[in-house]
Amino acid sequence: MSFPISRPRRLRQSELLRSFVQETRLSPKNFVYPLFVCPGSGVKKEISSMPGNYHFSLDRVGEECREVAALGIPAVLLFGIPESKDELGSGAYGDNCIVAEAIRAIRKAVGKNLLIACDVCLCEYTSHGHCGVVKGGEVDNDSTLELLARTAVSYARAGADIIAPSDMMDGRVLAIRRALDSESLTQAAIMAYSAKYASVFYGPFREAADSTPQFGDRRSYQMDPSNQREALREISLDIEEGADMVMVKPALPYLDVICRARQEFNIPLVAYQVSGEFSMIMAAARLGWIDRERAMMETLTAIRRAGADAIITYFAKDAARLLAC
Ligand code: PBG
Repeated sequence: MSFPISRPRRLRQSELLRSFVQETRLSPKNFVYPLFVCPGSGVKKEISSMPGNYHFSLDRVGEECREVAALGIPAVLLFGIPESKDELGSGAYGDNCIVAEAIRAIRKAVGKNLLIACDVCLCEYTSHGHCGVVKGGEVDNDSTLELLARTAVSYARAGADIIAPSDMMDGRVLAIRRALDSESLTQAAIMAYSAKYASVFYGPFREAADSTPQFGDRRSYQMDPSNQREALREISLDIEEGADMVMVKPALPYLDVICRARQEFNIPLVAYQVSGEFSMIMAAARLGWIDRERAMMETLTAIRRAGADAIITYFAKDAARLLAC
């Protein structure tokens, strides 16, 4: 049936009608809020490239998490900034590492009212800024696995609900699952950064985490932005290795990958709207070139429409506040 019988505008006449036929709805329950924890006390320091996001010391992170939970956001994703860095990223693991301390502080503040997810990677902790152990100028896959597993066990022991490996080493999901299970940490879920691209959009994060590689780049472990089929293969390998949830990262430039992943796999799918996606919108808004709130809601809606169940986003608190009105 075509015009004049069909008139798509009929269903766009009013706010009520438009909302009645809306296909994709956003809820704070879809969001995960990333948080950076650092040593010291009394620290709440804004990250200059990511306005409205902060480094929190252990005594300040609890209050922030109470606010996140009160907004109806179910989860935070923790990144640690260590006191000092070394070749093996030893600040990433051990019962007293910064992230384990933060987990305990957050649990004290919010109890079980918030899921605590932890990024597992070495790049914030290594002096060379790579995500694994460097041997002969290359990032060595298999010797990195043991350190990642140790990191995951430290976080799960401290009470993390979700372990999120973001390093892109081969076999890390299996190594982590085995290590967790052998320590009877079977309840800790794995949210794998499965399709993580070697993207320019991590720039502001690397400033925030001081994790820019000191030589070379991450293209020998993160994915080539040209590849879609390879993302499906990465996801299916992670599922075979025991991932409970999988992720596509970044989000907006990779909506096709999110869409394909949603069609091919029956497992919760998470998308990460990364620092550069956030900062681009913030910068354009500051220049008066774009409406911040509308850009935020449109991009989040697009990521959900493509098929993501959950979105890790620096906009989580702002979007939750807007959705509450
Ligand atoms: C750690 C990690 C990175 C991000 C999440 N985990 C940085 C990177 O891979 O260089 C990026 C997050 C963001 O840009 O918001 N490997």
